[in-house]
Amino acid sequence: MSTTSTDNEAILSLARPDIVALAPYEHALYAPTLERLHANELPWPPHSESPGSSLHRYPEPQPAALVAALAAHYGVSAEQILVGRGSDEGIDLLTRAFCRAGYDAVVTCPPTFGMYAVAARIQGAEVLSVPLGNDYSLDHAGVIAALDRRVKLVWLCSPNNPTGNTLEAASIRRVLEAARGRALVVVDEAYIEFSTQPSWIGALSDYPHLIILRTLSKAQGLAGARIGTVIASPTVIRLLRKIIPPYAIARPAAVAAEQALQPHNRAIALERITRICAERERLRAALARSPWVKHVYPSAANFLLLATTNARSVLERLQAVSLLARDFSGKPALEEAVRLTVGTPEQNDRVIAALECGT
Ligand SMILES: Cc1ncc(COP(=O)(O)O)c(C=O)c1O
Repeated sequence: MSTTSTDNEAILSLARPDIVALAPYEHALYAPTLERLHANELPWPPHSESPGSSLHRYPEPQPAALVAALAAHYGVSAEQILVGRGSDEGIDLLTRAFCRAGYDAVVTCPPTFGMYAVAARIQGAEVLSVPLGNDYSLDHAGVIAALDRRVKLVWLCSPNNPTGNTLEAASIRRVLEAARGRALVVVDEAYIEFSTQPSWIGALSDYPHLIILRTLSKAQGLAGARIGTVIASPTVIRLLRKIIPPYAIARPAAVAAEQALQPHNRAIALERITRICAERERLRAALARSPWVKHVYPSAANFLLLATTNARSVLERLQAVSLLARDFSGKPALEEAVRLTVGTPEQNDRVIAALECGT
């Protein structure tokens, strides 16, 4: 990765000065060949534990084997990776590292994933909203106009949750060009595996202020393990490593993630992604015939956004066949909207029957 010292200085000048100067907590040395009398652990594994998982020991802070597996999976170097408890933790850490309470701001483009604004508000940073435009496209001119001196982070989500569309590459590129040296641009790719669009990871060498969020929670089916990855310039990653809690990644989660990334399991994940995408298109065609659905938005994710005639009736019909969908009605630009995750073929058949899609 070709980050120059000018790029590094530009990134550090955007970060909170107190975080740049912070001496991080010194966690207990991780040296597996030595016997641990330095971390106030018990010397015995828990009585209830299956052998070999060493839950009486603190885990490695950033598990090297998992970092290496993720780096290989995403095609970047280990120093460009921070593993966190879901990409939710990445969102929180980025906000805390770059936004000073009461001074700085972030840009979000609603309707979008709610945690960008929540993390900013927890941190005391202002949230500048630049709503998505027609067909939920990115208003790049609006985002660029919002880039004042307070803005440290621009949050873009592609494919976007809850609308399902990918943001146009040319629009993202314009934001990246305008933000150079002024703000960091985060592209959250939580659902990219379900899309035919390429990841923005390939653009990292052109844009040192670009940050990508990826997760194992969606296409890799590991939401319960809470493993998400921030992929960015080593300068950004070093800052985040300073502020992530010392032993954030629980060992069972790291082991589950490493296993999921082995070639055999990746092949199964790919096959499942193909099935979900096929089911998504089957559901989309069927739901377009439902008397309860005015419009099914195109989706590059594992969910569909429905403009319904009446969100409450749709949710009740689904609940009557034991299915939960997410109510977005009443949110700006989402009147009577319901978001439905693509399920198994059998669950999708139940949706189709409950919403009277006919044949
Ligand atoms: C767009 C987007 N980003 C991030 C997340 C958080 O994912 P996780 O913390 O499970 O990695 C979600 C979860 O729904 C999401 O939809």
